[in-house]
Amino acid sequence: MKTVVTTAYRLTPETSADARQIASELGLIFVERRKKSIGKIQAETGADVVAVTKERLEFYLRGKTEPFFFHPSSAAFRTRRPLEEDPLVSVSGLAPGDAFLDCTLGMGSDAIVASARVGAAGRVTGCEANPIIAYIVQRGLRIYTELAHLIEPMRRIQVVQADATTYLASLPDESVDVVYMDPMFTEPIAGAANFEVFRDAAAVDQLSALWVREARRVARKSIVLKAHFRSEDFEKYGFERRVRPNTKFHYGVIR
Ligand SMILES: C[S@@+](CC[C@H](N)C(=O)[O-])C[C@H]1O[C@@H](n2cnc3c(N)ncnc32)[C@H](O)[C@@H]1O
Repeated sequence: MKTVVTTAYRLTPETSADARQIASELGLIFVERRKKSIGKIQAETGADVVAVTKERLEFYLRGKTEPFFFHPSSAAFRTRRPLEEDPLVSVSGLAPGDAFLDCTLGMGSDAIVASARVGAAGRVTGCEANPIIAYIVQRGLRIYTELAHLIEPMRRIQVVQADATTYLASLPDESVDVVYMDPMFTEPIAGAANFEVFRDAAAVDQLSALWVREARRVARKSIVLKAHFRSEDFEKYGFERRVRPNTKFHYGVIR
């Protein structure tokens, strides 16, 4: 899918330089905004648009007026509760000092919770297949300043833009404590406008035997799968399913 980079509607010298730099880092074409609407740029270029504003990167898919941008999402409230009670932490057994690999970084909320849990002595890597999502989230994790308690956990996350199975294959045996995967649900679920754009842009790969085999080789402690409650992947790949009454998704674990 073609994507171009432009600036905010109101141009400043900084955002212009920033936008050109980001276009070059992503290997994308930079387009002057010239006070055009995003819709006009989408129509003229036939492309999705990344708009660089002073505060954030906004990703507008063709035909959409709502952008995807980085925000901590559920990590904002999950990190205010006792972390050992967070379902991802308790299912995985993730402990302070652990190394955590999130194979499907997405918006980064699970990785932020994991980073808060493992602390400064631990390590969190987030792998994301979509290069634009990976870039926007990596930058958000680096520059976010709103909720003070999230800043350090965010800064510690290493983002890798890669396919998860390929990335896992590059890692040594038993080199991380917990490997986590949260592929896109195939069942449609309602979400906020920001999530809908994310859903349309995200890679929709589902688990494969190779992905799980590589995860088993790399994980020391556990492999955790989050999937829709109707997903048959838990049983298909040998995860012990943790049923969560009245929730749309379940966790599964291989120890
Ligand atoms: C449901 S989202 C993950 C949400 C994430 N757990 C969070 O807390 O925000 C799934 C993400 O995985 C990415 N993805 C899908 N297949 C992938 C693959 N094979 N390798 C790496 N990332 C993948 C998608 O692009 C999407 O961003």
